[in-house]
Amino acid sequence: MSSLKKTILVIGGTGAQGVPVVKALTEDSKYNVHVLTRSAASTATIELAALPGVTIIEGNAYDYDTLCRVFTGIDYAWVNTNGFAIGEKNEIYWGIRMFEIARRCNVSHFQWASLPYLSKLGNFDPKYRTGHMDGKGKVAEFISAQPTSPMKWSVLTSCMYMETLTELLAPHPSLDNPDLMIFAAPLGKGQPPLIHLADLGRYARWLFDNPERSNGMNLMVATENIGWEYLVKTFTEATGKKAVYKDITLDELFASPVFPFPDGKVGHSVSYEDPTLQTYRQNFSGFWNSWKADLVKVDYALLDEILPTRVKTLGEWMKLVGYTGERSSVLKDYRDNAKKRQKGFEEKVFRQ
Ligand SMILES: NC(=O)c1ccc[n+]([C@@H]2O[C@H](COP(=O)([O-])OP(=O)(O)OC[C@H]3O[C@@H](n4cnc5c(N)ncnc54)[C@H](OP(=O)(O)O)[C@@H]3O)[C@@H](O)[C@H]2O)c1
Repeated sequence: MSSLKKTILVIGGTGAQGVPVVKALTEDSKYNVHVLTRSAASTATIELAALPGVTIIEGNAYDYDTLCRVFTGIDYAWVNTNGFAIGEKNEIYWGIRMFEIARRCNVSHFQWASLPYLSKLGNFDPKYRTGHMDGKGKVAEFISAQPTSPMKWSVLTSCMYMETLTELLAPHPSLDNPDLMIFAAPLGKGQPPLIHLADLGRYARWLFDNPERSNGMNLMVATENIGWEYLVKTFTEATGKKAVYKDITLDELFASPVFPFPDGKVGHSVSYEDPTLQTYRQNFSGFWNSWKADLVKVDYALLDEILPTRVKTLGEWMKLVGYTGERSSVLKDYRDNAKKRQKGFEEKVFRQ
């Protein structure tokens, strides 16, 4: 007799997004979780290995033999490929391939961690082209064209992590007045949605727990749409610290040591010779242009219904995590590659 306890394969489980997903899946004893990682010795992996029901499996997610091995004998799969590491073309290839291999291995529910397909939302205007978003969005389009039987599928579409307000989106003190914090972004009056990661984990769990509703569903998740004037106001209310929003140009962003990416292309774990890869500047120009243009819409009424206990506002989140604007690490890949990046991340660059 087969066990009633389902086993979920998690790809990308050691990352900023994957860790809260694994935590949500294991908060009770309903599921066993297999986490695929390149290293069982990383801090994130060791933390996950201590959770009840978690089995760590070492291997490369972008390798056919490994995928056949890890998808065999499991019930569900949650997949977050790393587009920053492998580039858009590989992300499209491996996303589709993982779906095919899962189906062939008789997985019964496949969940794709996606991002909005910005190029499509922006009518394919090149100014919105963002490889690390478009790649996932294109895989979501492929999956959405597949039947919902015998393998159920769900797409979990997210957005910028609220937690990166301590990293990529963190403020820095003004050179002229160290008591004044500056939130700089090339956003104009754009109000991008941000998602609290623990809630993202709960939505991932909901999609597996409720297949009668989630099969064939693309769920766009966010906590709140946040303009940077509102961010500054909420920050001051929460911390008592003075702050301003500096609406910068893309040129200012990329000239700044605060911008954390080196020269080169999005796809740092593959050859940069591939002409399909975007430079960081090209990729993140599309990214900020899209958020500035408010291309992405969120159905908050649906999210309230699915997760009534969700964090609903930025202020609530700041209180929950004790937000101070101090920097702390969020992205694993960013942490792992810290030494490769140009120095000066902490420098104060935007004068009042
Ligand atoms: N930053 C955001 O706000 C945001 C929002 C939504 C979606 N995303 C998307 O999420 C994906 C990244 O996941 P994350 O945010 O959880 O990032 P992260 O914290 O940097 O984690 C990276 C994950 O990718 C895995 N990985 C596998 N092969 C890799 C390789 N060759 N190089 C680097 N990492 C590799 C890592 O696993 P091991 O190291 O354990 O092998 C780890 O689980 C990207 O596609 C990104 O576009 C980001």
